[in-house]
Amino acid sequence: MRLTKLSRFKNCIIWAMIAFLVIKFAVLPIYRFRKRFVHKVVLPSICYFDKVVQYERACKIGTNVLFLFRNMCQPIDNVLFLKTHKTGGSSIANILFRFAKSRHLTVALPKKQIFSFFWPWSFQLSFVDNLGEKRPNLLSSHARYNQTTMQALMPNGTKFITILRHPISRFESAFLFEDFPAFLGISGSLNPLKNLMEDIDKFNPEISTMYTLRNSMSFDLGLEPEDFENADAVSNLIHSVKKNFDLVLLVEYFDESLILLKQQFCWSLEDVIYVKHNSRLQAWKKHHIPNKFKTHFLEWNKADVLLYDHFNETFWNIVKYQDENFWSEVRLLKKMSRKIAEDCLQPGEHKHDNWKKTVGKLILNQKMDPRMEPLCRDLVQDEDFYLKIFRDLQCK
Ligand SMILES: *[C@@H]1O[C@H](CO)[C@@H](O)[C@H](O)[C@H]1NC(C)=O
Ligand SMILES: *[C@@H]1O[C@H](CO)[C@@H](O)[C@H](O)[C@H]1NC(C)=O
Ligand SMILES: *[C@@H]1O[C@H](CO)[C@@H](O)[C@H](O)[C@H]1NC(C)=O
Repeated sequence: MRLTKLSRFKNCIIWAMIAFLVIKFAVLPIYRFRKRFVHKVVLPSICYFDKVVQYERACKIGTNVLFLFRNMCQPIDNVLFLKTHKTGGSSIANILFRFAKSRHLTVALPKKQIFSFFWPWSFQLSFVDNLGEKRPNLLSSHARYNQTTMQALMPNGTKFITILRHPISRFESAFLFEDFPAFLGISGSLNPLKNLMEDIDKFNPEISTMYTLRNSMSFDLGLEPEDFENADAVSNLIHSVKKNFDLVLLVEYFDESLILLKQQFCWSLEDVIYVKHNSRLQAWKKHHIPNKFKTHFLEWNKADVLLYDHFNETFWNIVKYQDENFWSEVRLLKKMSRKIAEDCLQPGEHKHDNWKKTVGKLILNQKMDPRMEPLCRDLVQDEDFYLKIFRDLQCK
């Protein structure tokens, strides 16, 4: 009797030791590993996509919480987006602000309650509001590039990104949005773009908004107007962008750009889903640069043409090495973004009642799925809204 009790006791000890070893060397490491790399995502938005596109990695309905496996990497938190003018930047900014909001990150805010960092002046630390001990995780409002000051502001290891667009379509989009015809005194003209083209050599940008007319992207990235025709300066500019930026997105290949970003940043597909912001209304799309002026226009915008061509080439040099997984993500993103626009937005074009008269306004669909509402709301909000949110949160 005593003997069996003793051997039972011994058995217990052995089992306890085995249990201890298993927990310490197997269970705990696996738990820690999961905690590090597996992120909790709260329903419903991801599961909604499961119904839509069978996003199988993302969703298992059944509980209120699901685990979303990511690649074995840490998501990037620190981003500087050099927002160029009329290049789809507002849609990118929406993605970045959503990311910052959901993860409670700190956003660099322009001083004096305005929405740009005193563009067209070269960026200075003094342009940032409420600059305390804490460095911002994100800078995404309009600013003119200055590597020294921007690097000094952002934490080490910050990813620098920007976006480019073909100079012709960029110009056609900027021309009416910024109301150049009024500046140029030709607003009565039936085809102001043509008028400008005819006299383009006489035109010399002086008012600051005019910097968005000629070589605007190069200007935003730091090139001085007096260097527009200086081949060495332009080549230095391209080198500096190549050296200091981690990714240059292209409007023409928006979805491909976002999947590259998602991969480099270790973000999820839901993080980079988008609806187009500040899209031109159909009625304002009729003016184009006439063919006979195109060559001359490109010559006049030589710096931007060289810049765009260079980064279009490097972009495709990266994309051509991507595998089928990349392309299936591109297709999925297109599909998800189209679907989300259908579900979240009131169909048709809507006008703004403020100065943004040439671009459409995004209006929430009153009949959207209530589970989608938080995501829909975040998707349609513009920069003013987000800056206000972050101001309220950060400037207490
Ligand atoms: C960038 O900022 C620094 C510091 O204020 C300034 O010295 C420099 O001239 C600026 N760079 C350009 C290209 O404006
Ligand atoms: C950031 O990098 C610079 C230069 O490499 C270094 O001097 C500085 O100490 C780093 N700062 C932090 C906070 O790691
Ligand atoms: C970008 O480069 C690709 C590959 O060289 C070319 O096919 C395409 O036409 C270029 N895109 C633009 C908008 O110039």
